[in-house]
Amino acid sequence: MARMTSQVDAAAGDFDPFELPDTIQLGTADDPYPHLAAARRTGPVQLDWPLPDDVGTFDEDRDPSFSVLGHDEVMAVLRDHETYSSTVLVDVMGPVLEHAMIAMDEPEHRALRALVAPAFRPKLLARWEHELVRRVVDELIDSLASSGRADLVRRLTFAFPVRVIARILGLPERDSQQFQRWSIELISMIVNWDRGLAAWNALRAYFDERAAERRAQPRDDLISELVQTEVDGQRLTDDDIFAFLILLLPAGIETTYRSLGNLLFALLTHPDQLNQVVENPELRASAIEEGLRWETPLLMIPRRSVRNARLGGVDVPAGRELNVFIGSANRDERHYAEPDRFDIHRAPAPHLSFGSGPHMCLGMHLARMETRVALDAILERLHDLRLDPAAPRPRIVGNVFRSPDTLPVFFAA
Ligand code: HEM
Repeated sequence: MARMTSQVDAAAGDFDPFELPDTIQLGTADDPYPHLAAARRTGPVQLDWPLPDDVGTFDEDRDPSFSVLGHDEVMAVLRDHETYSSTVLVDVMGPVLEHAMIAMDEPEHRALRALVAPAFRPKLLARWEHELVRRVVDELIDSLASSGRADLVRRLTFAFPVRVIARILGLPERDSQQFQRWSIELISMIVNWDRGLAAWNALRAYFDERAAERRAQPRDDLISELVQTEVDGQRLTDDDIFAFLILLLPAGIETTYRSLGNLLFALLTHPDQLNQVVENPELRASAIEEGLRWETPLLMIPRRSVRNARLGGVDVPAGRELNVFIGSANRDERHYAEPDRFDIHRAPAPHLSFGSGPHMCLGMHLARMETRVALDAILERLHDLRLDPAAPRPRIVGNVFRSPDTLPVFFAA
């Protein structure tokens, strides 16, 4: 344990993940939606990549992949796990997602999901909300409140979910920064394989030690839950536990920090709607859902066809990769009136940002709760919140993961 702790301290340094925006975002498109809409008009399913720059996730020697753009077609792919396999994720992300349930098909996926799902039960979520999530966001706001101005991405949204997950797992506070760095290095493995692999190895050693500690002496945290879980006489193996913990980094941290940033961007660039959620807290839940629809943090997810299929009027042969554009589905004009408009009063129109079907996000209730608690704290404590008019207008960027690069604001504490 001592060896690992000293490695953590030494490596954490002054890492600035914002040095690597392209690596983190995968692509630089600041508004992919007009391109997606244009592509959608030619058909809900088609060959080719619909965006101006290619993120290079797939091998050029392979058959071209299909892009799935229509709402109904995206939903159909995500629900039809017998035709569209998730194992392609291992090809894209390598060892990061080996043994991870997100990259498994049925029946293995179902069995594993049943084992880890109890770790996210509502009773635990309610406890985390009161004992930990509000505290994390309050600490972050304490650190900036007196200054009257801040970049909310650097000072708040970026640090928030990683600290929440670190505390849910019961990790020591001093490991937080290193933990975040490993998470980013891991998720950007596609563009820097060696660095990603090094992060994966470091995390394996780190989590193995934490799991061994909890086996010897269970505590009140998620790792202890996982080492003790038993469903129908089945327990999680060490590999299962590691695969699940490692999945929480890209799945639970990256997405949530980005979606909170996107929601704040939406509200700050629509000050009339920001005022309404300040004055009417009951509008916040629909604002969160509309934020997720309007700017999903995960624009697309991959699948591979394992048998011949017909989708959106197009023949999809077996063995082909599909880019399943959640972001396009969320703005399909056949489902949403004026889909490009951010409108917190929109009639309930469920989005696909948490996916659909057997792999539908396991952490969605946690993500919604974290976002609500953060939004409440920000609006209660940072009054008269507005974008800094002198700073360059923030942009939401990225072709796969999307979020604002900066959110410079003024406020009265
Ligand atoms: C706004 C935040 C989030 C978004 C937009 C999001 C989105 C998604 C999506 C689209 C999927 C399905 C992927 C697929 O079908 O290939 C997924 C799966 C998953 N998410 Fe989330 N997620 C978020 C937050 C979280 C959080 C906070 C956690 C946990 C701490 C989490 C854990 C997971 C897990 C474990 C899976 C895999 C489920 C399975 O394979 O059965 N997510 N998420």
